[in-house]
Amino acid sequence: MKKYLINGGNSLFGEIDIESSKNGLLPILSATILTQEECVIHNVPDFLDIKNMVNILIHTGLKCKYDGNTLVINGSNANCNEVGLELTSPLRSSIYTMGAYLGRFKKAKISYPGGCDIGIRPIDLHIRGLKDLGAKIIEQHGNIYCDGSEMRGDKVFLDFPSVGATVNIMLAGVLIEGTTIIYNCAKEPEIVDLQNFLNAMGAKIKGAGSSTITIKGVKKLHKVNWTPIGDRIVAGTYMIACAMCGGKIKLNNCIYEHNEYLINLLSRAGCNILYKDNSIVMETTRRPKSIQKIETMPYPAFATDLQPQIMALQCVSSGNSIIVENLYETRYKHVPELIKMGANIIVKNQTAFINGVDKLYGAEVKASDLRAGAGLVLAGLCAKGYTTINSIEHILRGYDNFDGKLQSLGADIKIIND
Ligand code: UD1
Repeated sequence: MKKYLINGGNSLFGEIDIESSKNGLLPILSATILTQEECVIHNVPDFLDIKNMVNILIHTGLKCKYDGNTLVINGSNANCNEVGLELTSPLRSSIYTMGAYLGRFKKAKISYPGGCDIGIRPIDLHIRGLKDLGAKIIEQHGNIYCDGSEMRGDKVFLDFPSVGATVNIMLAGVLIEGTTIIYNCAKEPEIVDLQNFLNAMGAKIKGAGSSTITIKGVKKLHKVNWTPIGDRIVAGTYMIACAMCGGKIKLNNCIYEHNEYLINLLSRAGCNILYKDNSIVMETTRRPKSIQKIETMPYPAFATDLQPQIMALQCVSSGNSIIVENLYETRYKHVPELIKMGANIIVKNQTAFINGVDKLYGAEVKASDLRAGAGLVLAGLCAKGYTTINSIEHILRGYDNFDGKLQSLGADIKIIND
């Protein structure tokens, strides 16, 4: 088992390129199932969630070939519309095969998805939305059986702007007759990138980024050459690292609006942040001031995927703060680990009360999921002494060369084997 060993206390200086968005690329890779023609995707990062999704594509019958970090996908012979637990359980986004298989084959049999253990994570909105388009869906013995032979465009009203449900309905709706309108859809930048990707393949979709998406069904999708957007959660993680450790960093391949909420919070905490030519430059020299209240909410509000990282920042900020986690019931598993490092946090239901301390101290801690692990890395980077982080396989699922990029900024972090 691999671990991170961090000797905390170094300030961060330098420049790094932010990798393509994991949560943007996963729906895009799923969408390649919808065409028989070639898809060329550039800047594909090298981490486990992406490899697991590529394995699902190969299982489906698509040919996938890497040329450096460009992935060439050819689905002309794709013929499989079933995927079992072995391939669905490693990642949440395996649920996108439901919409993609329905789109391409009008039929699907899939097992339930896995992913980070942060809450119940139901898929009722996905299933209800697909049923609204006429799909017949039965859940039985751990499998989801879908028949889309009578699907056609219709109105879908989501009770909550679920990212995953929005993706699945887009994937299923793009190749059916008629017009599909998704009301109260997710507005995340990754949904906009999926719309743009599908439109570049010949789809007729508009409205992504707003709360209503309209899809006019087309008969087929054609080849495409695509570079995904940069990962706003990864960029946010490095920004929070700099806010905690001090220093000056430049992050390339960023879009200002995608991080605007966080930039606003970090400016209030005392950081200087500039944006120019797709790069964020931030500088800070002082102990951060606490941000009094942060609530996680769907985009454009504060992302739940940055909650553990911002909590690590609040732990060392001057003053008290409150974090409310509105999306996931059990997304506070990093709290006992931060407390081991000297943090002062009390959790009551979905609210964490944090009293900033002068210093965190190195300790042996465990990453319970991807972003909780990232939060612990940040705590370790600014703590006094050595921190060992166990179970880093969770972190390696979603950050490309995390230790290498942090090292290039001056951090003392390395991977060690048990
Ligand atoms: C996506 C992201 C994940 C992020 C989350 C919220 C990917 C691969 N993952 O996950 O990193 O944390 O958005 O920004 O993009 N819900 C239901 N029923 C459903 C679907 C969702 O009740 O059918 C609830 C969930 O339990 C959760 C909320 O809706 O409380 C948001 O979930 P959703 O937006 O669907 O998240 P994911 O797509 O799973």
